[in-house]
Amino acid sequence: MKDYQSQIKHKELLQFVQEMEQLCTPDKVSWCDGSEEEYQRICEELVQKGTFRRLDPVKWPNSFACFSDPSDVARVEDKTFICSRRKEDAGPTNNWVDPREMKGHMKTLFTGCMKGRTMYVIPFCMGPVGSPIAKIGVQITDSEYVVVNMKIMTRMGLPVIEALGSDGEYIKCLHSVGAPLEPGQTDSKWPCNPTTKYIVHYPEDRAIVSYGSGYGGNALLGKKCLALRIASVMAEEEGWLAEHMLILGVEDPKGQKTYVAAAFPSACGKTNFAMLIPPKEMGGWKVTTVGDDIAWIKPGKDGRLYAINPEYGYFGVAPGTNTKTNPNAMIALSKNSIFTNVGVTDDGDLWWEGMSKEAPTNITNWQGQRHDPNSGKPVAHPNARFTAPASQCPSIDSNWEKPEGVPISAFIFGGRRSTTVPLVFQAFNWNYGVYAASTMGSETTAAAFGEVGKVRRDPFAMLPFCGYHMADYFNHWLQFGRNLQNPPRIFSVNWFRKDENGKFLWPGFSDNMRVLKWIVERSRGKVSAIESPVGWMPKYEDLDWTGLSFSKEEYDRIMEVDREAWKTEIMAHEELFARMYDKLPKEYFFMRELLLSSLWRSPEHWYLEGETH
Ligand code: GTP
Ligand code: SPV
Ligand code: MN
Repeated sequence: MKDYQSQIKHKELLQFVQEMEQLCTPDKVSWCDGSEEEYQRICEELVQKGTFRRLDPVKWPNSFACFSDPSDVARVEDKTFICSRRKEDAGPTNNWVDPREMKGHMKTLFTGCMKGRTMYVIPFCMGPVGSPIAKIGVQITDSEYVVVNMKIMTRMGLPVIEALGSDGEYIKCLHSVGAPLEPGQTDSKWPCNPTTKYIVHYPEDRAIVSYGSGYGGNALLGKKCLALRIASVMAEEEGWLAEHMLILGVEDPKGQKTYVAAAFPSACGKTNFAMLIPPKEMGGWKVTTVGDDIAWIKPGKDGRLYAINPEYGYFGVAPGTNTKTNPNAMIALSKNSIFTNVGVTDDGDLWWEGMSKEAPTNITNWQGQRHDPNSGKPVAHPNARFTAPASQCPSIDSNWEKPEGVPISAFIFGGRRSTTVPLVFQAFNWNYGVYAASTMGSETTAAAFGEVGKVRRDPFAMLPFCGYHMADYFNHWLQFGRNLQNPPRIFSVNWFRKDENGKFLWPGFSDNMRVLKWIVERSRGKVSAIESPVGWMPKYEDLDWTGLSFSKEEYDRIMEVDREAWKTEIMAHEELFARMYDKLPKEYFFMRELLLSSLWRSPEHWYLEGETH
């Protein structure tokens, strides 16, 4: 690697790495070239250490399983900080500490923290190298797991060093598992710091410092830290959008293509929706995948919006993924993949809840114990994940690496709501759509450390990912719309409404195509809708039901707007507003009043009756 290092012309980067080496005192420094040879070598080292288990090479070619420490299984929102210079720039929904104080604290934590380990330098690019929308980062880490995951999730190594040249801009990312090794001390299989974790962002410095965790978004710093928290700050300053959104293409039977972007909170179905296979009976409709988690969106010269997926792989939720719910993901993860916190059999096979009806016998759960079906303990952790190359997805869009991105015609927002929120509605206009997205609620999932199943406001599915004041973010969206000649239409969906026995009212998954088709046709100005108190809605006959038996009564139930429930819902917006009263767009107060007044005059239960528009 000596040759490669001597090629680095970026003096400031060399100096940064040298300073970090002096601070963290690793045994050695290794610059990552991003080659296949390097990937294989580090995976083999992880196998030797016992961190990785090589899976059966016939069933799961070139793939590995690994298991994290029980203290390190998801993002840690309460340990995530936005350390802007001024507290009010971080806003009421982010943890904040004065950056001077935090820097001092981090310096103490990082002093000698890589003792006994190798310090890796990972140059990576979010977005296709050379794309005008892409951004470069350099992550320093002492985790081999991070290196090999970054290889799948980002474009990394030599091509990025070349793109950086002698003075290119990059985002500094410093990461340590926070587990220095004394001479002779044997390493644990999942090194991390079980008690001290910090995920810190310095928006003005465009820098990220992460300590103590080796898992997912805490450690793969290109993803949530750079591509959402830091990028959202840059986007606000520069006039673009960095969003927690999937991007998909819909091709109709005549071959006309429409791209949409959709924001659902963590573990609420983005990967499934991005890779949707329409029901055969619908005839000739096709969905293609651009991205499953993050979208960077910029206005083009033609006045339309263009989006890229800054990532290069999928870090997807494993439980619930199977050949019925998501056949494309099953193929994407069938080789060259890494599995974290799933179950493994003695002969190198894998299993997670929902992969098939029953767990195979002789399966070891994610905590390394023999699975006991009577124990009530799951085989896989609910936030178990696969890391798979995006290029392996059969539905990958032919334009997914296009440097200028794909044109977006509609935005879709959806949370996990067992009550109140109907299957689909279209916002009356841009401002109202922004209001609806801002006040979106969702039941919490295992993707974040903490309580599961409680409704919380999750504006734009960005609550854990916005790097600045959430109300400034709302204002940015409103302002962004004012500058668009032909803004994308905005829709709300909810796949998760349940009956009184807790059963889902909507079949979901591939049948979501029926809703998506209406959304696409609506964006093209083709189909009609009727006015409800909360937005435009399709009538029963406006959706394509070919191949599905779903009665008008069932439809009315899932589209119902219950007046009392909606009054409570709208009052709950107040809670969010009160937290950011000083900066909240003034439009929001009027929109809330308008919504309330339209509920006031509508029938007690609003079923799909009324004028067509
Ligand atoms: P992050 O990667 O955490 O940002 O989340 P994601 O939005 O990509 O999550 P993912 O697609 O992996 O969501 C997985 C969860 O959503 C599983 O529990 C699925 O069973 C559930 N899910 C996805 N689509 C549907 C649907 O149409 N209906 C129902 N009921 N559940 C769904
Ligand atoms: C999410 O939680 O929204 C994820 C997984 O996509 S992680 O990268 O771990 O944040
Ligand atoms: Mn996500």
